[in-house]
Parts: sequence; structure tokens; C-alpha cells
Amino acid sequence: MLALVDVWYESDGKAILKNINMTFEPGKVYAILGTNGAGKSTLAYVIMGLEGYRPTRGRILLDGEDITDFPVTERAKRGITLMWQEPARFTGLKLKDYLTLGGKNKVSDEEIKRALEMVGLNPHLYLERLVDEKLSGGERKRVELASVILLKPKYVVLDEPDSGIDIMSVDMIDHVVEELAEKGSCVVLITHREEIALKADHSYLLCRGIVLKEGHPGEIVSFYKASCDKCDHPNEPTERVGEELRA
Ligand SMILES: Nc1ncnc2c1ncn2[C@@H]1O[C@H](COP(=O)(O)OP(=O)(O)OP(=O)(O)O)[C@@H](O)[C@H]1O
Ligand SMILES: [Mg+2]
Repeated sequence: MLALVDVWYESDGKAILKNINMTFEPGKVYAILGTNGAGKSTLAYVIMGLEGYRPTRGRILLDGEDITDFPVTERAKRGITLMWQEPARFTGLKLKDYLTLGGKNKVSDEEIKRALEMVGLNPHLYLERLVDEKLSGGERKRVELASVILLKPKYVVLDEPDSGIDIMSVDMIDHVVEELAEKGSCVVLITHREEIALKADHSYLLCRGIVLKEGHPGEIVSFYKASCDKCDHPNEPTERVGEELRA
């Protein structure tokens, strides 16, 4: 289990994450909701342990081991991975080499083809292509999803896998998330798409850096839609936000 215990993250004297308590279990899917700027990507970086994103307070525990001060490489070795909201485009590698981490990830050609098909990329058209600026934003995201499938991570944070991907492909993302969870991965899904969030087992709503609410995705999505769209009262208790919106 991966646990964030009273995690705070401050940058330039500004608290971006406050008192975050979350637990993530293998084989389960978690949806993280929140308006733009709520702190979702920052949370993803803190979980991944990116340079400059160590919590200023609190602990991160992986199966009881304190990994708070572990660099990204150590976390990756333990099976934690992150799919960026805006993946870098230039690697100069052929897609086939990119997907196998230059041969380090031992996967069969069949597995590679299946992963590409699952994300809607025809292997015959893409395997020999370079991962460079000529790939469109949506293609790049699909490549990232394929690489996550092949990596078989224990914990994966997908930061808006749906952004830049055409609306018809929501089912494809669902399918990938299901496959990851079935194979035992824990998927932490950051998304603005209701239909994707509703497929999760549990949901957290972030608002100005705090967990405003958590629970069943249906309940969280309804609250989010009713209260967060035009909210002028960040981090106010539920009832009050509801009342003021009705007023
Ligand atoms: N290194 C930093 N220093 C100071 N402020 C930052 C830093 N990184 C992010 N922020 C601010 O912290 C807040 C949270 O940013 P974050 O990128 O985590 O939001 P988000 O929930 O992912 O939003 P979006 O839905 O737009 O992707 C924003 O107000 C952002 O401007
Ligand atoms: Mg973000």
C-alpha cells in the first residue's frame, strides 16, 4: 500500500499541498478531481519524488517503508511511475526502443503490438517511427499509455490521460485503466472527465491544496459538478458551499 500521511508541499513560501492524507492499494483505481490549479499535478510530482518536490512536512510510506526522501530513481525501482500531463516530445528513439526502455524492459514483440493496438495505434504504422516532435499531442499521449501498459507498474499516476485525446477515445482509456488494475497495478487517475472518474473505486477531491472530500466517485463527481464550477469559496465546508450556490 502507498500512503501519504499529513503531506505538505510548499514552494516560494506558498503552501500548494496541505495536510494530504491518502492511501492507495494495489489493484484499485483512484480518481483525483479538482479545478485547474487545485494541486493535482503537484501531488503527482510529490508521489513520484521529482527533484524539488519533496514534501515540506509529512511522510510517504510504501508498504510501511518510509520513501519520503527517496529520489525518483529509487521510487521507480519500487514500481512507482508517472505519466505526465504534458509528456516531453523529443527522445530521438524509435518507438519500439522507447517502449522497451532501450531493451531494458524485456517484453515480447507480441506484447508491444498488443499494447499499441490497445491505445489505438496501428503497430505497422508506428513501430518504426521516431518519438519526436512529428508525433501529435494525442499520439504522444497514446505512446505514453502504451509504455505504461508494458511497464506493468505497481503504482501509476496518470495525469490527465484524456487531455488532448479525442472524445471518442474515452473508452480506450477506460479499457487501459481496467487492464492495468486487473493485472494488479494501482492506478491514480487525475482527470476532468466525469465518465472516466466514475469508473474508479474511490475518489479524492482536491481544492486549493487540501482534500476537500473523499468517497465513492459517484458522490464526489456530483458534488464537484454542483459546487466547484462557480465556487468563490475554496475549502469551505460542503454545506456552506451548497447553500451559497443555491442562494
Ligand atoms: N513550483 C511552484 N512554485 C509555486 N507555485 C506553483 C509551483 N508549481 C505549481 N504552482 C502553483 O500551484 C498550484 C497548483 O498547480 P498544479 O499544477 O498542481 O495544478 P493542477 O491541479 O494540476 O491544475 P490543472 O488542472 O490546470 O492541471 C497552481 O496555482 C500553480 O500555479
Ligand atoms: Mg495538472
